[in-house]
Formats: sequence, C-alpha cells, structure tokens
Amino acid sequence: MAKNNVIIKNGVRFEVAKYLKKVAPKCTKVVIITDNNVFMLYEADISASLKNAGINVCTFVMEAGEQHKNIQTYEAMINFVADAKLTREDVIIALGGGVVGDLAGFVAATYMRGIKVIQMPTTLLACIDSSIGGKTGFDLPQGKNLIGAFHQPSAILIDLETLKTLPKEEFQNGLGEGIKYAFLIGNEMIELLKEGLEDGNLLDFVTRCVDYKLDIVNKDEKESGLRKLLNLGHTLGHAIEKESNYTIPHGLAVTKGTLCVANASVNYGKLQKQAYLDAIEICKKYDLDYTISYDIKSLIKNIQMDKKMHADGDISFVDIEDLGKCVIRTVSIKELEEYLTK
Ligand SMILES: NC(=O)c1ccc[n+]([C@@H]2O[C@H](COP(=O)([O-])OP(=O)(O)OC[C@H]3O[C@@H](n4cnc5c(N)ncnc54)[C@H](O)[C@@H]3O)[C@@H](O)[C@H]2O)c1
Repeated sequence: MAKNNVIIKNGVRFEVAKYLKKVAPKCTKVVIITDNNVFMLYEADISASLKNAGINVCTFVMEAGEQHKNIQTYEAMINFVADAKLTREDVIIALGGGVVGDLAGFVAATYMRGIKVIQMPTTLLACIDSSIGGKTGFDLPQGKNLIGAFHQPSAILIDLETLKTLPKEEFQNGLGEGIKYAFLIGNEMIELLKEGLEDGNLLDFVTRCVDYKLDIVNKDEKESGLRKLLNLGHTLGHAIEKESNYTIPHGLAVTKGTLCVANASVNYGKLQKQAYLDAIEICKKYDLDYTISYDIKSLIKNIQMDKKMHADGDISFVDIEDLGKCVIRTVSIKELEEYLTK
C-alpha cells in the first residue's frame, strides 16, 4: 500500500470522514468494529466525524481480549455487517488493538469477497505492527491465527493521542516489538528508545517502524522471503509464550527472544557488545523483563512443533549480523540449540 495512505497525526480521529472520502468516494455507510474498552473511549469521536459528513454509521462492539478472537465473534460480526446491508462501495473501520484489527480485517476480506477496511490502531503494538501488512484472521482451539487471509487496508489512521489511555502493561507489550525494530532498523532507533518516548520521539519512533514494515511488506506481501525478517525474536518468543501457558504477553516474549539472539550474536563475535548492553538498558528503563527463566532445551522442543519448521526438519530463524543488519538463516534444530546456548 502507498505510504500516503498511512496518516500518523494527533487528532486524526476527528477527521476520519475526510480520509474515508479519499479512499472510498462512493461510500455511504460504515460499520465501525471495536471492543468494549475502546468503544467507551473513542468510538463517539469517529462516528461524529462520519455522521457530520452524512455517512450512515453502525457500530459492532466485541468483548475485549484474545479469548474472543474466535469463530463465534467472527460469525456475529459478519452477520452484523450483512444486516447493516453494507455494499461493495462501503467500508469497515477497525478501531482498536490487534485483536479488533485482525478480526475486522478478516470480516472485510471475506464479506462479499472483500470490501475496503480502514485500520485505526489504538495500541502501540497495533500502531507499529498489526495494523500494517494486511494479515487478518482469528484463532481456533487448535492454534493461534489458523484462519486468515491477506487483505491490505485502504488506509491506516494512527492517532497517537489514543495511546495516552493505554494501560502500562499494554504499552510495554508494544515496546517488546519495538525492541525488535531497533535491531532491524539500527542505531537511531536504539538512541530514540534510550532518550525516552516522549511526544516528539514517539511520533518519530512509530513513523520509523511503520515505514520499515510498509517497505518490507510492499516488497514481499505474502512472506515468501524478506517479510520473514519481521519474525526476529519470534521463534524463541512463541516458544516462551507457550511454555508460560500464555501468561507472558507476546511483545515481552519477543523481547526475550530478540535479546537471546542478540546475546548469541555477540558471543559469535558479530554484534557489538555495546548494542546488546544498550538494549538491556532500554529494557530496564521501561521495566521490561528480558530474562528467560526456562531451559533453552525445553524451549527448543517447543520450537520443533512450531509451524515454521521445514519438511526436512530444518527451521528458519532470524539472526542478527549487526545492528540494522539481520538475516534469515535455515538451520537444523541441533544447530539452533548450539547457537543459542554457546
Ligand atoms: N496482523 C498482524 O500482522 C499481527 C501482528 C502482531 C500481532 N497481531 C495480533 O494482535 C493481537 C494483539 O494485539 P494488541 O496487543 O493490540 O491487543 P488487544 O487488541 O487485545 O488490546 C489490548 C487491550 O488494550 C485495550 N485497548 C486498546 N486500545 C486502548 C486504548 N487506546 N486505551 C485503553 N485501552 C485500550 C483493549 O481493549 C485490550 O483490552 C493478537 O491477537 C496478535 O495475534 C497481529
């Protein structure tokens, strides 16, 4: 998607109608999909902007939480959209964190074989990661994100003011992915995080993450190669999440995974130790527990069951060659274990 369809601006929630008209000039009706927390905070601002511009608005409110990212919620949403009689000219607005964004995006991908969706992320994680790239879907009892489709949003409207109401642990969760971006992008991101994410820095930080991800997704939408770089820290991160019975949030697990790879890279004489120490300083500054309390061997067993295993038993993981220089490596499980435990 084009960079000019991503707007990062304080107060953009009051101007939604303007951007909607740009990407869907014939739209007369919008379904806003949100969750109960975000509904109370921001839905009125968006629906007022739309109603003032003569757009019909209906709002679907789901219960907040990953446990509701399931087929029952999807069914209720798609019935709501059909009852609202949305046409192919109309638009769904996903207002919320990654859970809302993934589900609403999938509803847009599947209703009438695909209608437009505008993503309005309201968590840090959704601003820098889940709202970009068009991955949509929901969980099955058999596993996370097993149902899904690629469906690019027509626009992404990021209002950083909405992050002010985010609970501390949700901000930390987003920062977990932020540390990953620091290793992918390079030193300027480390410096920003070290300085602190006050107003101006937050805008700079989010913009750099968005630009980086957009650039990658525009080159490799379906994750056949380059896009896999965004999985830095995720191989181990997923295993840590599972081992903790999902009590460790995703973003924090990604930080732990990223720092474990960074440590290995230092031990193999690749990444400069200072970059690793800076990342630890950042974790301490934001109160992120980067330590891993599980045995790496049992985590590796978990990884063996991960969907990213190749048929021959090898696994792809993202390695850090240097700050701002990451590579995708395919190794055997034994090699991965040796690498991470040197
Ligand atoms: N599609 C992708 O590429 C992609 C990438 C990464 C993660 N994800 C998915 O994203 C989901 C996690 O997203 P998340 O971390 O945003 O969680 P979330 O959507 O569950 O939101 C976290 C909590 O914050 C609340 N909240 C949201 N915005 C708020 C605000 N501004 N003020 C106060 N409270 C607010 C929500 O109601 C919720 O309780 C997972 O399902 C994950 O699979 C998708």
